[in-house]
Amino acid sequence: MAFSFFKKSEKKEETHSGPHYYDLKVKTIINETKDAITIVFDQPAGKKINYKSGQFLTLIVNVQGKEVRRAYSLCSSPFIDNDLAVTVKRVEQGLMSNWLPDNIKEGQTIKVMEPMGQFTTEFDAKRKRHIVMFAGGSGITPMSSIIKSILSQEPDSMVSLIYCNRDIDSIIFRDELDKWQTKYEGRFHVIHVLDNAPMNWQGYSGLLNHEMLQKLFERIPDWGIEKTTYLMCGPEGMMKNVETLLDAHKIPKEKVFKESFVQGILDKKEEKPTGDAKSREVTIRYDGQEYKVSVEPTATILQSALDQGIDLPYSCQSGLCTACRGKALSGQVKLDEEEGLSQSERAEGYVLTCVGHPLTDDVVIEIG
Ligand SMILES: Cc1cc2nc3c(=O)[nH]c(=O)nc-3n(C[C@H](O)[C@H](O)[C@H](O)COP(=O)(O)OP(=O)(O)OC[C@H]3O[C@@H](n4cnc5c(N)ncnc54)[C@H](O)[C@@H]3O)c2cc1C
Ligand code: FES
Repeated sequence: MAFSFFKKSEKKEETHSGPHYYDLKVKTIINETKDAITIVFDQPAGKKINYKSGQFLTLIVNVQGKEVRRAYSLCSSPFIDNDLAVTVKRVEQGLMSNWLPDNIKEGQTIKVMEPMGQFTTEFDAKRKRHIVMFAGGSGITPMSSIIKSILSQEPDSMVSLIYCNRDIDSIIFRDELDKWQTKYEGRFHVIHVLDNAPMNWQGYSGLLNHEMLQKLFERIPDWGIEKTTYLMCGPEGMMKNVETLLDAHKIPKEKVFKESFVQGILDKKEEKPTGDAKSREVTIRYDGQEYKVSVEPTATILQSALDQGIDLPYSCQSGLCTACRGKALSGQVKLDEEEGLSQSERAEGYVLTCVGHPLTDDVVIEIG
């Protein structure tokens, strides 16, 4: 299949301004591994960006005259880091993940959208809980922020991290993880798993299949289900295996939270039909304005709005990140992909405009 260079709504250069956009100055670029860099941004002068651990920034860059945007989880913690940082790992043939390390320089300014995302938790010094994390590759980024926040903000809580990588040189934040283990001894424990381990490797090696996961699960301290929460972020295959393991241990779904970086292909049925045969008008309320958007049968609501020059929020365009989330106040919307929304969000009427199609003529969506 031909490699498609731009996603459908990657448009000619636009200047985004307003309260949802920031121009961030690159303070430092850190080479984490051979294929991952951390970009540290200065907080903007006079307008500090507030965010929650686990949220992401949407980076917007111009490549060959076209706007490209992608989500990158903040690996910094709002409690202990003065700056904002994201870590980008190269994806083979990926547009943005290769453009960034090949092109950005310290001192350069990058446009970003405000922090977004629901893969977050509130911190409370009185809380006593155990967070069990499963991360793979670049999936460590939101975990890094959450780990730093929980260890610094909740003295009685503990974190167990199972972190999988291809080989020893691919481990992002290896030294930092070691340092935190020493600093927070007894409260933070990392189990590394490598696909290809060197001869003297002390940790686990091999595929993260059910047997391996079961073995690792038995090593994690048991604080009881009431006090334990499970987080996962990594390749789709890893997350499926972890879900199977947690199901086998009868862990209730509301105790399990997952962040997906890439649209899944496992278990995907054939291409789902989109919308119905009729073009419909959708009303969108955003930032105190009301827009009428005409949506063609095969187009999404977001795509139609962008084509009509309406600057709505979005990032992944695949129904994963929730940057485009809105609440349907009336009418029916069909979603091609529901992964990004929890059951309760769906029940409350939330929709994702990047994968949403109107099924009725009275759809009104409020964003923000
Ligand atoms: C909420 C959220 C947070 C994210 N946080 C981070 C982060 O902290 N660090 C980070 O490096 N990435 C993160 N990502 C992924 C990031 O947004 C991009 O998708 C990734 O950098 C690839 O973009 P690209 O333009 O290089 O690839 P594209 O040109 O968009 O894609 C090229 C090909 O690679 C595949 N692909 C895309 N992403 C991946 C992937 N992660 N693994 C394997 N194949 C992939 C695509 O399906 C496509 O076939 C996050 C994504 C989401 C939705
Ligand atoms: S833009 Fe990411 S879910 Fe719609």
